[in-house]
Amino acid sequence: MNKGFPKGFLWGGALAAHQCEGAYNEDGKGLCTADTLICGNVMERLFNISTDIKDGIYYPSHEAIDFYHRYKEDVKLFAEMGFKTLRTSIAWSRIFPNGDDETPNEKGLQFYDDLFDELLKYDIKPVITLSHYELPLGLLNKYGAWSNREAIKFFETYAKTVFERYKDKVKHWLTFNEINVVKMMPYLGGGMLLSHTDPEFLQKAYQAAHHQFVASSLAVKACHEIIPDAKIGMMMAGMLSYPKTCNPNDVWKNVEMERNSLFFSDVMMRGYYPSHINRYFEENNISIEIENGDLELIKTYTTDFLAFSYYMSSVTSADPEDNKMTGNFAMGISNPYLETSEWGWQIDPTGLRIYLNQLYDRYQKPLFIVENGLGAVDTVNEDGTIEDDYRIDYLKQHVLAMKEAIKDGVELLGYTPWGCIDLVSCSTGEMKKRYGFIYVDKDNEGNGTLKRSKKKSFYWYKDVIESNGEKL
Ligand code: BG6
Repeated sequence: MNKGFPKGFLWGGALAAHQCEGAYNEDGKGLCTADTLICGNVMERLFNISTDIKDGIYYPSHEAIDFYHRYKEDVKLFAEMGFKTLRTSIAWSRIFPNGDDETPNEKGLQFYDDLFDELLKYDIKPVITLSHYELPLGLLNKYGAWSNREAIKFFETYAKTVFERYKDKVKHWLTFNEINVVKMMPYLGGGMLLSHTDPEFLQKAYQAAHHQFVASSLAVKACHEIIPDAKIGMMMAGMLSYPKTCNPNDVWKNVEMERNSLFFSDVMMRGYYPSHINRYFEENNISIEIENGDLELIKTYTTDFLAFSYYMSSVTSADPEDNKMTGNFAMGISNPYLETSEWGWQIDPTGLRIYLNQLYDRYQKPLFIVENGLGAVDTVNEDGTIEDDYRIDYLKQHVLAMKEAIKDGVELLGYTPWGCIDLVSCSTGEMKKRYGFIYVDKDNEGNGTLKRSKKKSFYWYKDVIESNGEKL
């Protein structure tokens, strides 16, 4: 039996370009879909989108936490915590400002060279997401984003460009962030202005997903050819759900709920569309256009590992009256056995152990937790300290659950808690929803000095890493 975290376990933290970098129009960067999102509640921010940038409106990604100019200071703090890895994304529109440009933007490429050099200076391995909810806006305006098959070739060019450029620096890659979200949040996941009331909603969402599957396989192919010693994974939003009762109708509903999400990992990890999707497609009038060679590509170039985010679990009921929205992406009803975060996310460390086991049983390939954490309001004491014991408690319980899963036999590559330095919330655009070990002085309206300070959890996590998960 494995006793605990293996040697070489990748402890670190996770970020995404549009939520931390800022410098949204500097050094040749083009606009991306995330640059059009305002601060507000989920409905205002993610379902009432205008892609015109208007004067007088505050767009959180435009400055974010100014990581673009301050990354050296931040990386030094990550190194002080002992990070072995940092997961972040490349902003596609820094490299190809319009998405379909003939040549890449050298200044954008140089920025990531500098960032990766800075990380490697401290022995921090970059884990890089190619596309984290930040599609070049030009690809939406001109082509309709992922609804159009053309997006595949632009993505392939972009992926090959960054593989070539960073082949000596980056050995862990992820294709699309939370690929299973395209169906729930089409603007985030697919860069598409697609309303849930569109009669062809499902058709368009699954077609976009198919394009992303093909694009992902082409990226896997290119990655292995260009960087033979690299590993490339898929990334999905972890959506563990429980049936409300042992009533077989609830249990079946839950099977459907799980399949809905695991469909994406089934395709990318196993290399084929699972048979159950045929009935779903037929009953929902979905007919995917699949070109010759697509299925072979998907079959041949599956991803090497499965990365996922895990924040909470949900509950499924067969009774439609029961259903309401909880969390940001998960549909479900409340679980009387769990506590919730200030944003209503149901905290479930044991669920992480269950989920890790389910995924490993299903795919028998390494797993990587690339997001986890507690979004909470932090208070800065008069003496400048921040006592975020609630965050320490959340993370501790999840690390313990991971440890149990490793003892259960799960192969886990690493753990990168989300927003290791406070950053812009994806679902609301807020700054006050903080995840970090490092506090950033900035509020929801964009005011603040951007000064960085260490929270109590900073010292706690340093000990966790130093003891390889033994000192919690
Ligand atoms: C994940 C996303 O869904 O959740 C991140 O990949 C996001 O981009 C994270 O920030 C936490 O969500 P939120 O809405 O609290 O920022």
